[in-house]
Amino acid sequence: MDGPAASGKSSTARSVARRLGFVHVNSGLLYRAITWWALDRGIAGDGPALEAAVPGLDVDFVPAREGFDVSVEGTRPGPGLESPEVTARVSAVSTLPAVRDVVLERLRRAGRRHEIVCDGRDIGTAVFPGADLKIFLVAEAGERSRRRLRQRGTPFTDEDVERETRRLEARDRLDRSRPLSPLRRAPDAIEIDTTAMSPDQVVDAILELAAAAFR
Ligand code: DC
Repeated sequence: MDGPAASGKSSTARSVARRLGFVHVNSGLLYRAITWWALDRGIAGDGPALEAAVPGLDVDFVPAREGFDVSVEGTRPGPGLESPEVTARVSAVSTLPAVRDVVLERLRRAGRRHEIVCDGRDIGTAVFPGADLKIFLVAEAGERSRRRLRQRGTPFTDEDVERETRRLEARDRLDRSRPLSPLRRAPDAIEIDTTAMSPDQVVDAILELAAAAFR
């Protein structure tokens, strides 16, 4: 399952996995964990240092109460993975080839060991080109911002929506324009525009597609 920032991929993937009895693998968490670690070490802006460190980095999915959590060098950053600092840097960090290699290897290993629903930007195009079912989730940028702000649970203004929209669009631009496995719909992925859909409607639509794909 791929799509732009805040398109609802990870909550949708989590629900779909639960309903299918599969394991949810959120690939963005690995990019975020590497970014979190690099910020902590003060090398998040230093591409060469990061590329040198990442091949030996102890970063992977670890079992959690439900599905997987992510651990980096023995620490589980948890909510730290969603911090504004990590979110602002993660697209740049994820352009580095060494970073993408490590994440690709961890994702494919999870895919060999479990039946998974995996979400990200390049899952259908690069990580699992032979996936049984590929979904590309999209939604209008303004709606994606409102969903993200609603998730935070505090009141927000039109200006907050505009600011958030600018941030999301900047991240999408970076994710779409990088040379290595950019955000793109795979030719055989089914696009679902969720702008006017409820979360349950999206999950039900995907479960129907899954039932047909697995028949
Ligand atoms: O899904 P997310 O917002 O947690 O992803 C964070 C960043 O990680 C995203 O802006 C780009 C990168 N990413 C990626 O390059 N490829 C993926 N499969 C998943 C995430």
